[in-house]
Amino acid sequence: MFRLRITFFRVFGIIAICFISSGLHAQVQKENFSNDDESIEPISQAIKDQIENIISQLTLEEKVSLCHAQSKFSTKGIERLGIPEIWMSDGPHGVRAEINWDDWGYAKWTNDSITGFPALTCLAATFHPELSEQYGFSIGEEARYRKKDVLLAPGVNIYRTPLNGRNFEYMGEDPFLASVMAVPYIKGVQKNGVAACIKHYALNNQEVWRNEINVEVSDRALYEIYLPAFKAAVTEGHVWSVMGAYNKFRGQHCCHNELLLNKILKTDWNFDGVVITDWGGAHDTWESALFGLDIEMGTGTDGLGTSKVSHYEHYYLARPFLELLKSGEIDESIVDDKVRRILRLMYRTNLNPNRPLGNKNTIEHHQVAQKVAEEGMVLLKNKDAFFPIKDDKQLTIAVIGENATRPMTIGGGSSELKVQFEISPLEGLKKRYKNATIIHTMGYASGPSVYDKVMPSNLNADSLKTEAINVAKKADLVLFFGGLNKSHLQDCENGDRKSYHLPFGQDDLINDILKVNKNVGVFLISGNAVAMPWIDEVKGIFQTWYLGSMTGYAIANIISGDVNPSGKLPFTFPVKLVDNGAHYYGELSYPGDGINEYYKDDILVGYRWHETKNIKPQFSFGYGLSYTSFNISAAKTDKKLYDFKDTIKLSCNVTNTGLKDGSEVVQVYIGKPNSKVLRAVKELKGFKKVNLKTKETKTVEISIDVNTLAFYDESISDWNVEKGNYIVYVGNASNQIDQTIEIQVTQ
Ligand code: BGC
Repeated sequence: MFRLRITFFRVFGIIAICFISSGLHAQVQKENFSNDDESIEPISQAIKDQIENIISQLTLEEKVSLCHAQSKFSTKGIERLGIPEIWMSDGPHGVRAEINWDDWGYAKWTNDSITGFPALTCLAATFHPELSEQYGFSIGEEARYRKKDVLLAPGVNIYRTPLNGRNFEYMGEDPFLASVMAVPYIKGVQKNGVAACIKHYALNNQEVWRNEINVEVSDRALYEIYLPAFKAAVTEGHVWSVMGAYNKFRGQHCCHNELLLNKILKTDWNFDGVVITDWGGAHDTWESALFGLDIEMGTGTDGLGTSKVSHYEHYYLARPFLELLKSGEIDESIVDDKVRRILRLMYRTNLNPNRPLGNKNTIEHHQVAQKVAEEGMVLLKNKDAFFPIKDDKQLTIAVIGENATRPMTIGGGSSELKVQFEISPLEGLKKRYKNATIIHTMGYASGPSVYDKVMPSNLNADSLKTEAINVAKKADLVLFFGGLNKSHLQDCENGDRKSYHLPFGQDDLINDILKVNKNVGVFLISGNAVAMPWIDEVKGIFQTWYLGSMTGYAIANIISGDVNPSGKLPFTFPVKLVDNGAHYYGELSYPGDGINEYYKDDILVGYRWHETKNIKPQFSFGYGLSYTSFNISAAKTDKKLYDFKDTIKLSCNVTNTGLKDGSEVVQVYIGKPNSKVLRAVKELKGFKKVNLKTKETKTVEISIDVNTLAFYDESISDWNVEKGNYIVYVGNASNQIDQTIEIQVTQ
């Protein structure tokens, strides 16, 4: 019924808008709405005129009604003018199930199950932008099929601490990698006539005190580390909407932050789309009206909040806003700007008569999900060529650990999914290994995932452990599936981890297993780094992420060697927590004192910190092994002297020196010795993933604009490219450099 109403409204809406535009529509639609990239921006003059025409017909009440929610995930339309409702949905790695109108309960529809794609840490670990485009396109198709106009994704907050409960939703610690991976995702989504919504803008780098913590950070760190992925989303990805963050920045909530929204986003970057609150992120009518917010969602957590009657009318951008407009205290041009942006969003999405119809749970989507999973998994250790493991009749494999069977699309908060299916690692292994004997036991138990609550398991930990040791004794080798999960205080919204160690007694369990079986391979299913006190004793380690629907198939393909691992870490694994820059400076640096938090690590986030301070990580950013080996050689730049406007053209040869086909990621970092300001020893400036048959050599070319070597100069409040010598580092991890080249920037 509900769905029918929306559909009718949309059809009616399109007809009515066509009517308003008095025939213009037919003429302009082809050139304005074709799905290729170039046509996305800018919006044509004809549509601009239509938008002004509509604004001129709207009453103040109608204008304001467009600026806030009417339900948990939708905004009102205006029936008399055929202006449609806007429907939004989470989330970053799958389209969330339908939520009730007024509360967070699931609506229990029977047609809303979808494909679970790998979480974004995995996507980032592929270092494969084309795959990100396919991912974005596929998830966008699913959103479109589910009649969503805005997909609340991708998330690009920077990985600052391994404790952040939402790191799994983001693209790692490096602003360049996150930018390069986010842009094609956005383009892919938007080809479906569905708006991507880059989030959470900005500095939402922890979940502890997320609603109130005030982040104090230097301009340099802001511009160099925390903003670039958002900027790329806007200026290169042409994203149609942006979600504000919950936290404060320099004393003002990010959802109505004058500097972030009015100045940087809308003025400096020319963003012409819509700013949406994070759910409940608005706190003030004046600021919401004046400081860049366009649509207020989620105020009042149960959809009731301050009043049971017409709750949504009490939103900051609802009646209180209307009153200030009516009294003339706020000028009508303020609401007109918001409405103009909202109508623009509609013309790009639900008023675009040519947008495709979408699709869900297709074979293509499953293939994309599996490919991302396979290309994102990172092989961290492989002693004695422990992996790949042959499917041998003589072999008994013990699969131990709760994560071998635990569904990971459940839990985590707003990114929780209702998937059509999720193949567990155990299921995948059983399908792939027809000859070997697989024995399985849980080993440890964590309890169910309940939002905002830790629910311990009622299973007996000692019995589970004893059973695991017995199973391990009987096997030739053990595959341990552990890590974190999507429960409160693990990888989950609205809370950070309490410790860097593995939870649920896993460290002890692994140590005890090692006493009876030395052939242990560990699979860390998580979106975060963890401590590994057993690292020297185990044979192999995979960082396995949250892989979505195709988890088990992808894992089995990697273990068996049907697929050669090629993922690279999108963030550093410190040995211990204080080795991480945010933690090094103590509690005021993370998590703050409950009121303020000072990013004392400044620009030295992740590998920038480890490299500059000479702190050896457990595993570095960009690191990842393969079942074959590669050699990078003959790296050279096209010139030695460059001016500011030049592009550095770098080339090198990559040879697959091993016995298996595989892929390597060539990474180019650049550093500025003797800079007049503190700079990281090196920063990622380019990368390319290359596929090589055994013994094959390919020449890789990477272009880097000299202006990307700039630092943000606080003395002039602008970017500044220093003249002088730079070092170009070419390698396959931030701390594995095969060759360095010196270049000079002359003017
Ligand atoms: C999250 C957002 C999400 C929104 C709607 C918020 O709690 O921070 O990422 O899109 O809820 O579910």
